[in-house]
Amino acid sequence: MINEAQIEETLDNLFGNLEFTAEPAGLYDPLRYMIGIGGKRVRPRLCLTAYSLFKDSFSEEILQPAAALEVFHSFTLIHDDIMDNSDMRRGQPTVYRKWNDNTAILSGDVMCIDSYRRIAKAPVKVLPQALELFTATAAQVCEGQQYDMDFESEKEVPMDGYMKMIGLKTAVLLACSAKLGALIAGADERACDYLYRFGYSLGLAFQITDDYLDTFGDPGIFGKKIGGDIVNNKKSWLLTRALEKSAEMEKAGTQNTSIGKSALLSAMAMKSGNEAEKSAKIDKVRKIYIDLGIDEDAKYEIIKQHAHAMEYAGMIGLPRVRYEMLHRYADRLLGRTK
Ligand code: IPE
Ligand code: IPE
Ligand code: MG
Ligand code: MG
Ligand code: MG
Repeated sequence: MINEAQIEETLDNLFGNLEFTAEPAGLYDPLRYMIGIGGKRVRPRLCLTAYSLFKDSFSEEILQPAAALEVFHSFTLIHDDIMDNSDMRRGQPTVYRKWNDNTAILSGDVMCIDSYRRIAKAPVKVLPQALELFTATAAQVCEGQQYDMDFESEKEVPMDGYMKMIGLKTAVLLACSAKLGALIAGADERACDYLYRFGYSLGLAFQITDDYLDTFGDPGIFGKKIGGDIVNNKKSWLLTRALEKSAEMEKAGTQNTSIGKSALLSAMAMKSGNEAEKSAKIDKVRKIYIDLGIDEDAKYEIIKQHAHAMEYAGMIGLPRVRYEMLHRYADRLLGRTK
């Protein structure tokens, strides 16, 4: 049976030796930079973990599709950073900051193309399904990103709208990663389906954790600037729940106006033109979140989604040692600080 140490070693070798075309450097250097500075590799790790549930050794048939997931994900981050005005990523300057917007757009495009070349290395037998899954997922990520941007200019979104948005922008790619690993390993449809649901629920937990860390994370560990979601008026889980909860409290007749809905809306309307204004706004909103208990609510919601994921994992009917490996994967995501 493949163990976690082998998965880590395989990931290190895979991304340490990933080949990209050399020239023009202006196009390919940002790819090398993004892959080189290395993220957590959550998606290829999930793909390899799912594959390991059914197979006892790795071969090229799974390695290149697993790499495709990370290359595709890194492409979405390069474009996402332009859309979110983000200066820092993985503890380093973002691509559009280090180079410029045009470079980030075109290098991102070629990464998306590169990911298709790699996904096409899936075994011929499952290639049509693998391509359909990957393509549908890629389109859904774009849909989620569009909702995310549309929501910036809305005052408030309902919680189910938020969950749908993160389902698309984030959860489907984790779901796809888990299913792809199983599909390529030759698992049956039922197992593939439960792994998809497992990945989807984990993906929801993952994005809510990202939203939590964006406001409450440690700047030295998180690798991104803290408070970006507040500055951009992002409809994060925190804001969505805070607007919902402050309205509920007002309705119930709570007298504390400092945590009322109008206090929150006026904090969100604060100017954020310069650094001093930004940090005043972040501090103010963060304080309201804490007073409302939103930080604790988020942790509870993350645990809830994690538990859903484990229910699906339990339905696959895996031998105990293999189920436990999936469990450890999920636990590692749950405890993340970056
Ligand atoms: C960031 O993804 C974007 C989200 C979907 C939250 P990761 O947190 O996986 O980023 P890296 O790849 O580790 O940098
Ligand atoms: C990103 O969500 C989701 C995708 C890139 C598809 P975020 O905008 O929250 O991710 P970060 O916080 O910039 O990593
Ligand atoms: Mg974004
Ligand atoms: Mg972003
Ligand atoms: Mg985020």
